[in-house]
Amino acid sequence: MSARIKIFDTTLRDGEQTPGVSLNIQEKLEIARQLARLGVDVIEAGFAISSPGDFMAVKTVAENVKGPVIASLSRAVEKDIDRAWEALQNAENPRIHTFIATSDIHMKYKLKMTEEQVLERAVAMVKYAKKYCSDVEFSAEDASRTRTEFLYRILEEVIKAGATVVNIPDTVGYAMPDEFGKLIRGIKENVRGIEKADISVHCHNDLGLAVANSLAAVMNGATQVECTINGMGERAGNASMEEIIMGIQTRKDFYGEMVHNIDTRQIYRSSKLVSKLTGVNLQPHKAIVGKNAFAHESGIHQHGVLAERSTYEIMTPESIGLSQNRIVLGKLSGRHAFEERLKEMGYNLSQEEITKAFEKFKELADKKKTVTDRDIEALAGEKVSAVEEVYKLDSFQINSGNKVIATATVSMFRNGEHLTEAATGDGPINAAFKAIERSVGFEVHLEDYSLKGVTEGADALGEATVRVMKDNRIYVGRGVSTDVIEASVKAYINAINRVIHDHGKESSGGRETI
Ligand code: KIV
Ligand code: ZN
Repeated sequence: MSARIKIFDTTLRDGEQTPGVSLNIQEKLEIARQLARLGVDVIEAGFAISSPGDFMAVKTVAENVKGPVIASLSRAVEKDIDRAWEALQNAENPRIHTFIATSDIHMKYKLKMTEEQVLERAVAMVKYAKKYCSDVEFSAEDASRTRTEFLYRILEEVIKAGATVVNIPDTVGYAMPDEFGKLIRGIKENVRGIEKADISVHCHNDLGLAVANSLAAVMNGATQVECTINGMGERAGNASMEEIIMGIQTRKDFYGEMVHNIDTRQIYRSSKLVSKLTGVNLQPHKAIVGKNAFAHESGIHQHGVLAERSTYEIMTPESIGLSQNRIVLGKLSGRHAFEERLKEMGYNLSQEEITKAFEKFKELADKKKTVTDRDIEALAGEKVSAVEEVYKLDSFQINSGNKVIATATVSMFRNGEHLTEAATGDGPINAAFKAIERSVGFEVHLEDYSLKGVTEGADALGEATVRVMKDNRIYVGRGVSTDVIEASVKAYINAINRVIHDHGKESSGGRETI
């Protein structure tokens, strides 16, 4: 009989706890919609009580995303559960996810509670959550460092109280695959009533073993895996969804016929979207979704792949939705061909968005001989991070060199008004950013700036990402152009527009995390 593995995605909760990442509600909704297309079983949309922004994000996702179960995290306290339910109540399939730490070290130093007190609280809070919702998940935080007999006992009791899922987190990424697999097997064999609940695992990557531990758990009876896109998360991150799924998929000979609901062809788009909206670039050699994951550099490998793909490729790029970097369009291509290509690549843009993307495509095709899928992706991707363009770049001029002070003049439009400011700085980018700030009349703190080539070659499209801080909130801006300074200036203006867009609105910045 084939096992059914459920995917619980926590990109919007644990993933958003990645240092320096803060998504606004619109961005969370965009990611949640993509997760639904990807086919995840559960979306943990946030930790409702942690901030008004998180509450609104859970509520918005609950009310707008149909298909997957929508979960909110809550500590094992009544007010957290009340708030989680308030946010979830209109979901098609709501789940309250409540947790309490069960390891000696957490109970003694963090909770200052005994085993008996923790057990009593866990049972009471599962019962409390059940009054609202039939689907209740209980997590024994730091389960992998919990005294095994106590873990069995608390799981047995919460299942009796009505928990439909029991989650075994390796909260600090301490477990080894063999050991973690045995822990799951032990739970399956020793916890009375365990057949009434899904066994879930939630592994962190502190020792680089989150995926290995999750897969070991699946081999030993876990039926739900908690993970994030691109392995985003607290510290070294969480188990990466794409690695788990492609592991199970590619090694059917080893894992057997495991049934899951993921449309693997949506993996690449999901990864790109999360990376774009969070501003966290992937290492090029990241498994499955890194820029080099399907690149063959050595001559011997290239020769092998040309002769027979399977010599050096254990899965195809198409299986994750990565179309070959075909040269698709040129200067003379029409809107129809462009639109068709967008559709083939899985983009669902409105006519207005297509018109904007097509204008950008024409500009690019004027500068670049050939436009590839990667370029189109970068142009279409600008749409996902779209906010109202309060400030729009008109022109800029830079004077810089190794023996002169860099000077920048930047002209922008604001509601038809033309604004021009000049500034000097430590280098051309810094000078341009300062000139922009002069025009907008407020300052932001630049936390991070990166620039990468979308494709190879001297005429490659450059993609700049900036992460700025304003009033304790992080804003990510992106810009693409064949000119790296223009890409950077656009990214900075995009971040400024985001600050303006969010001003006065709640985002999840400054929230309490666990
Ligand atoms: O890492 C952890 O233990 C968690 C739980 C709250 C599930 O994130
Ligand atoms: Zn976690």
